[in-house]
Amino acid sequence: MGAQKGFARTACKVNNPGNGPTTPVGIGPAVTPVRPLRLDVRPDSDTLGGLRTESIMHPEFPQSQIIHLNHAAVGPWPLRTAEAVTAFARENAVTGSLHYGAWLKVEAATRALARELLGAATASDVAFVKNTSEALSIVAFGLPWSSGQNIVIPQGEFPSNRVVWIKAAERFGLEVREVGLPFDDPETALLAACDGDTALFSTSSVQFATGLRLDLERLGAALRRRGVLFCVDAIQHLGALPFDLAAVQADFVMADAHKWLLAPEGIALLHVRPELRERLLLQEYGWHMLADAGDYSHYELAEAPDARRFEPGSPNLLGVHALHASLSLLLETGMDTVAAEIEARWMHLHEGLQRLGCRTVTPVERGRHAGILTFAPARGDTESLYRALQERGVLCAQRGGGIRFSPHFYLSTEVLDCALAAVAEGMRA
Ligand SMILES: Cc1ncc(COP(=O)(O)O)c(C=O)c1O
Repeated sequence: MGAQKGFARTACKVNNPGNGPTTPVGIGPAVTPVRPLRLDVRPDSDTLGGLRTESIMHPEFPQSQIIHLNHAAVGPWPLRTAEAVTAFARENAVTGSLHYGAWLKVEAATRALARELLGAATASDVAFVKNTSEALSIVAFGLPWSSGQNIVIPQGEFPSNRVVWIKAAERFGLEVREVGLPFDDPETALLAACDGDTALFSTSSVQFATGLRLDLERLGAALRRRGVLFCVDAIQHLGALPFDLAAVQADFVMADAHKWLLAPEGIALLHVRPELRERLLLQEYGWHMLADAGDYSHYELAEAPDARRFEPGSPNLLGVHALHASLSLLLETGMDTVAAEIEARWMHLHEGLQRLGCRTVTPVERGRHAGILTFAPARGDTESLYRALQERGVLCAQRGGGIRFSPHFYLSTEVLDCALAAVAEGMRA
């Protein structure tokens, strides 16, 4: 595993992190002393069973108390993101919005990074919205539907990519078709469900529970030929795999920042194919989405022609500063490298779990998974193994009838081996 080559291989025991020390909440002293806010997070050298943890941790991720295998749920922030947020907080406290113009430059730079991540044509094609669910709703309640049309989605989708279509169907007289996903050839099954009345096909790029990854390029080409709109919930994809918008031919792509993108909740990307932007009837209005945003004396109501039309009010500049830092780490590392490192960690975990007798639920074939690895325990039930892993500081989830591990590029082999040791112990317990 490239990034961590050279680390000593050592057995380890993971401590139960408990809930950690808590900060009392309440009314503080009248004058809070000014403290330096630069983070100084250093891994405890003994929390991973006496290992010199600095040697097995990526410097951006000083996770001394946990083994983070939960990037498909809520990812951690790299240190540079924590520092960017801290610096932004301090600046707000000390100089208020004096440098608002500079903050807008960070926003523009973040949009440029998001463009690069998506492979979009221009940064102004990318909107910052609150979350994936909001982005899906912008599409579902904005399209000019005709009664009798249908929408095709896979069975087992995350609720956000289901409820929006069902509610839109109720409102506009549509049908929602939910199609089972055979692992061997899900694309054929999905495309077979589309017919002359299918207006839109929406899917997660990577299924949140099973980890099945769809062939977006194949779907995109077939849907474009048939004139069916293609909506991709890329939250389990962006930050784990490269994305090539032109090759995928998606009409709508959205993803929140708090999973594989390693940034906070509350900021997400939305890309709408420019030719379709004006077809979406807007549900939200405000000063910021007007063509003449910033000219408060001007009563022109025209919407911005670019993706800013999906951003009604003041931007989430705190989220923007964080996302900028997180995207800079991913793009500096390179998404091809990130994907290759994730694949190496995925295979390492899969092989280790197989040795323990566990069954990998997620398809093993390269190209059929991304970062999610769901497995069924060899012995005992999923619930008790999940509890045992939580007690041992292994962050993961119960999904798809098993345990979901979701490793990111920065984890060392030693840390993964600690997680495997915790699985072995957990199944004995
Ligand atoms: C596939 C998928 N889509 C959407 C969501 C929810 O995203 P958000 O909270 O950004 O709306 C999740 C969260 O787990 C998810 O896994």
